[in-house]
Amino acid sequence: MPSSEKVRWGILGPGSIASRLLQDADRGTNFSVVAVGSRSRDRAAEFGSRFGIARVHGSYEALLADPAVDAVYIALPNSLHHPMTMLALAAGKHVLSEKPYSRHPEQVVEAFDAAEAAGLSLMEAFMWRHSPQTRRFMELLPEVGELQSIRSTFGFVMASTSDVRLEPGLDGGALMDLGCYTISGSRMVAGAEPVRVFGEQTLGPTGVDVRFSGLLRFPSGVVAEIVAGFTSTQRSLEAVGSKGTLVSRDPWQGELGGIELNGRAEPVGVPDDAYRLEMESLSAAILGHGQPLLGRADALGQARTIDALFRSAASGNPVSLAG
Ligand SMILES: NC(=O)c1ccc[n+]([C@@H]2O[C@H](COP(=O)([O-])OP(=O)(O)OC[C@H]3O[C@@H](n4cnc5c(N)ncnc54)[C@H](OP(=O)(O)O)[C@@H]3O)[C@@H](O)[C@H]2O)c1
Repeated sequence: MPSSEKVRWGILGPGSIASRLLQDADRGTNFSVVAVGSRSRDRAAEFGSRFGIARVHGSYEALLADPAVDAVYIALPNSLHHPMTMLALAAGKHVLSEKPYSRHPEQVVEAFDAAEAAGLSLMEAFMWRHSPQTRRFMELLPEVGELQSIRSTFGFVMASTSDVRLEPGLDGGALMDLGCYTISGSRMVAGAEPVRVFGEQTLGPTGVDVRFSGLLRFPSGVVAEIVAGFTSTQRSLEAVGSKGTLVSRDPWQGELGGIELNGRAEPVGVPDDAYRLEMESLSAAILGHGQPLLGRADALGQARTIDALFRSAASGNPVSLAG
């Protein structure tokens, strides 16, 4: 694909996050959204008319077969990320898959092996990693001195009883939906992969974890504490070091708060739409300009940590990830 062209994206799943992504997609410098696929042609058509998307497909397979689509954004429930990614790669499409890519490390390996073999780009959609606020947080991190501990939280009160996040068969649950951000934040701040984890979960009536707390120990001795849940509202990322504390009050969505260093508010720069930036990052890589911000190593680190935390919570014992 010549670098002067725009990447033509198709959306799989016209749901809530796909709607959010499209809020600022018109400003995309190197991509355009040209198609949408749904299990229902009516839903695809309604979404297409709402967002001015001309090509509408009544099945995911039909979208994957559309030659006018270069890349697909997989905005489906968690258990469908991996199977749909494999189908998309087999159809020759680049892939941006919503988070968490998978709780199974072997699926991450299989997908990145397939993408590399086909010369296609694949990225897990942690949009918060693309925000100016996150960049500023990492610029300020050295100010805390020698890093000692990390704390992060993400929670909201789940009002619905029929949300896909409550479905065990769709890989729902608080660790998958929200805890994956706290894992992402802990790994980013530590700059390493955990060597041992311990997890505790509280299961709800549908069988998924509605609250999950975990400890992640990193090779340096830094310990990260993570809390995720569907029963209270909380969002934070905190790095504690020998010289001070850096706190982000809304690290994942960047809607509230800001960043404080030792209790003093820090300017975070001009806010920008992290969803559009994420799409621009992967589109640039597809057009031959550098690598995606997040690749195989990050997705594998996420899946290994999620898997180990679930195993720890199930057994009541710490799980080693060393070696
Ligand atoms: N990055 C972020 O900020 C962010 C925020 C929220 C969610 N997410 C992630 O995005 C993904 C989708 O979340 P969402 O909130 O957008 O979900 P959603 O609106 O409930 O569902 C998205 C779409 O999935 C399709 N779908 C396919 N099989 C389904 C099934 N068995 N049950 C229900 N829907 C099914 C539906 O489209 P059709 O039936 O029309 O095909 C639906 O519109 C999740 O992996 C979630 O973790 C990311």
